[in-house]
Amino acid sequence: MAPQPPVLASTRAELAALLSERRASGQRVALVPTMGALHAGHASLMDRARSEVGAGPVVVSIFVNPLQFGAGEDLDRYPRTLDDDLVLCGEHGVDIVFAPAVEEVYPTEPSVTIDPGPIADLLEGATRPGHFAGVAIVVTKLFGLVRPDVAVFGQKDYQQLALIRQMSADLCLGVEVIGAETVREDDGLAMSSRNRYLSGTERDQAVALSRTLLRARENASYGADSALAAARAELRASPGVDLDYLVITAPDLGPAPAEGEARILIAARVGTTRLIDNMPLHLGPHDPSTKGDS
Ligand code: PAF
Repeated sequence: MAPQPPVLASTRAELAALLSERRASGQRVALVPTMGALHAGHASLMDRARSEVGAGPVVVSIFVNPLQFGAGEDLDRYPRTLDDDLVLCGEHGVDIVFAPAVEEVYPTEPSVTIDPGPIADLLEGATRPGHFAGVAIVVTKLFGLVRPDVAVFGQKDYQQLALIRQMSADLCLGVEVIGAETVREDDGLAMSSRNRYLSGTERDQAVALSRTLLRARENASYGADSALAAARAELRASPGVDLDYLVITAPDLGPAPAEGEARILIAARVGTTRLIDNMPLHLGPHDPSTKGDS
């Protein structure tokens, strides 16, 4: 049987009408927030959402949120591929795609803003001021419009996931936030909508990010300093990669422990494209984390 296409809602009213009956009949609702240009990584989020709500509706939002892009970033050229996105959503059993215009989400510029707190000053936040405040406001709006029971985000944007978890808990948003594992190309490159910007050569060079993280994991039993030294050596041997940061932190992005579970995160420019990636690692003698990926 051919996959059923999802129903497309472009307005808040359409979305509310589509959801009200299903909510009234007690079904759980799942939301996968995206900016479109969907790929297999997003598909895995849809599958995870389905497994969380059974027969309940899975909603995918597709909205390129202007508030999370800084001046000089790629807002205007961010890929917009709605027709292809709808096909992928249909293949993964999505019920509703909410793809509003900017005016529908922001009929007026919000005068109430959200301070994302200290997590937004680190890493991505340090290079992209205002980015996480923009993410916080759009995710809060999407939670308010869809009122999901669960929302699924990718671990690829690890700092974003940490922020949304914290925000949902701190502001009692009543949404269970799930972080799904990063999906990778065969050679290890983390899937990202921004990979479309890479030229052929850059695409080959970009695999250095995941290789660098793996090198750190191989050396994690000797501690964070050794893991980082090995990772930096890998990067030095990788042409075309302009490093922004490479850090090991605690899983909650606090200071790395001397031993135990930790996270390694990288951001780098390949050509003009800024890419991020991260993996779990275990610092100290025993390393169970190398058995799984991120
Ligand atoms: O990860 C993304 O695609 C975006 O940051 C999100 C969560 C959809 C908010 O615009």
